[in-house]
Amino acid sequence: MIAARNGRAGGARLAALGAYVPERVVTNADLERQVDTTDEWIVTRTGIRERRYASADQATSDLAVLAAGDVLRNSRMDPADVDVVIVPTCTPDHLFPSVAAMTAHRVGAVNAAAFDLQAACSGFIYGLAQATALVESGIARNVLVVGAEVFSKIVDMEDRSTCILFGDAAAGALVTAGEPECPGGFLGFELGADGSQAMDLCIPVGGTRRPASQPFAREEAFVQMNGREVYKFATRVMEESVVRLLDRLEVGIGDVDLLVAHQANLRIIDHAVKRLGIDGSRVFNNLERYGNTSAASIPLALTEARDAGVLNPGALVLLVGFGAGLTWASCLVRYEPE
Ligand code: UT7
Repeated sequence: MIAARNGRAGGARLAALGAYVPERVVTNADLERQVDTTDEWIVTRTGIRERRYASADQATSDLAVLAAGDVLRNSRMDPADVDVVIVPTCTPDHLFPSVAAMTAHRVGAVNAAAFDLQAACSGFIYGLAQATALVESGIARNVLVVGAEVFSKIVDMEDRSTCILFGDAAAGALVTAGEPECPGGFLGFELGADGSQAMDLCIPVGGTRRPASQPFAREEAFVQMNGREVYKFATRVMEESVVRLLDRLEVGIGDVDLLVAHQANLRIIDHAVKRLGIDGSRVFNNLERYGNTSAASIPLALTEARDAGVLNPGALVLLVGFGAGLTWASCLVRYEPE
């Protein structure tokens, strides 16, 4: 339960990570049998080789519950001590109720407030910003942020320009309060949105603008994307956002131990890496195996970087993402697991 706390709040810490990916692997060769594409086109244009798809009976909350369970196990936290569950997602089970409320219930976070956060692929960093604000204001001590997406059920499997990009996953983090008066692990955030390009990445039908109760063409119920415009936007904002953030914090790119970018397209990440001048050995990617898992992509990469021994305690980590909205987000955090 969220309650006003009068004690001085400590800084917010990134205390634990965790993830879940569905079992079913869909390779580029599998997609070659479904749409007019080739493994070679997909690999050279995106860097993706395979992705995971949820089973027919798995919805987003089913993935979120398993990822949340992994985060809680890694933190050894009693679910009853979680104050808030935030689920960044743009593929909720239903328009409402929230995935977060169902997830909190199913993991036993019986004392938690819960809400979803819609900032598409920027959602995890937006969620970390929310969690940091809740903790550092003293409103909450323990906040679970779990990005969860089932894109395989909202992409058009007849549209080769989108279906090859996305995959399903859930992954997240626990943000906790440090000791009173201690500086937190989160050094700063840079978040933004430009709704003038909103329709460059959208699902036209199913909301209140175009209700599903009215007639519509089949493809309008699926993701529609102006890939080139999103590409141009992404390459611009990723660099701009990071530069603004690092300038404000007076941190040099050479001080960053690890860059984890939204795993949408290797070309977009490589462009940002080059423009920012960060050494390639300090960049962790895993989109080759998962494709774009939207709000789950950054925490999934962080979890795998931890498991690979690339993300170590004390590391200064730069996160950056972009997505529908259009939105962008970056964050600098010192990783301080419990
Ligand atoms: O989280 C945010 C999610 N969105 C993104 O990150 C999307 C950002 N955009 C992109 O990543 C890239 O724009 C794409 C990967 C989507 C496309 O790559 P591109 O290099 O921008 O290709 P394009 O859209 O300019 O298309 C080039 C050609 C076209 O054929 P024509 O018109 O030149 O004859 C497409 O029809 O490639 C064709 N094409 C494909 N060919 C084989 C598009 N998709 C495919 C495909 N296989 N899957």
